[in-house]
Amino acid sequence: MGRYKPKDFYFKKAKRHKYVARSVYKLEEIQKKYRIIKPGARVLDLGCYPGSWLQYAEEKVGTRGLVIGVDLKELKKEFSPRVIFLKQDVNELDPALLKKYSPVFDVVLSDMAPATTGIGFVDSTRSVYLADRALGIAIAVLKKGGSFFCKVFEGEDFPEFLKKVRGEFDRVKIIKPKASRKDSREIYLLGTGKKSQPSWKKEEDTPCQDIQSGAL
Ligand SMILES: C[S@@+](CC[C@H](N)C(=O)[O-])C[C@H]1O[C@@H](n2cnc3c(N)ncnc32)[C@H](O)[C@@H]1O
Repeated sequence: MGRYKPKDFYFKKAKRHKYVARSVYKLEEIQKKYRIIKPGARVLDLGCYPGSWLQYAEEKVGTRGLVIGVDLKELKKEFSPRVIFLKQDVNELDPALLKKYSPVFDVVLSDMAPATTGIGFVDSTRSVYLADRALGIAIAVLKKGGSFFCKVFEGEDFPEFLKKVRGEFDRVKIIKPKASRKDSREIYLLGTGKKSQPSWKKEEDTPCQDIQSGAL
């Protein structure tokens, strides 16, 4: 954190279009190409502060959709009632809590980033840890066929994570969006066509299952 970042083309464009962060153009690039967010969709956005992905997702889902944002930091921007914000650490987020907002989700987004140290392998390990947590939540809440778009810093643990994502989705792409700074280790994984039902649904569908542990 703290390194000076020049106000570039995407920063100025975001300001002009009243988006609270330039990162909106990473999601926009993916949406324009793959149309992952459909009208009426239920979207979960992990690490949503300051809220540009929430703004964009809110536009795309339209009046029948739902967007849930989760972040450690309190949102400053106000949204319509179809956007719900939960101030929460994703490491402590029980996916079962999300059921009260929607029984399943169509899309899980994660732009979560750890507080960076500048030490490559530390930052990458922490980032993969967060991305893995996002994947765990996606496995629990995403419908069969759903999409997962997730930031991760490349590093030693990345290939193992990629393998895990490939195990869960029919198609997985590694993407470096144009708005992602060239000097950043961040890349994005897009998984489409989730192979399985939400893991909580499978539990509901399985009679006599022992759910004492409550683990999802
Ligand atoms: C790059 S910002 C997200 C920007 C956002 N996509 C937007 O367009 O406005 C990354 C966010 O991840 C959040 N984050 C990092 N670790 C988290 C955690 N354990 N739980 C929840 N949020 C976390 C940070 O607080 C930060 O706001």
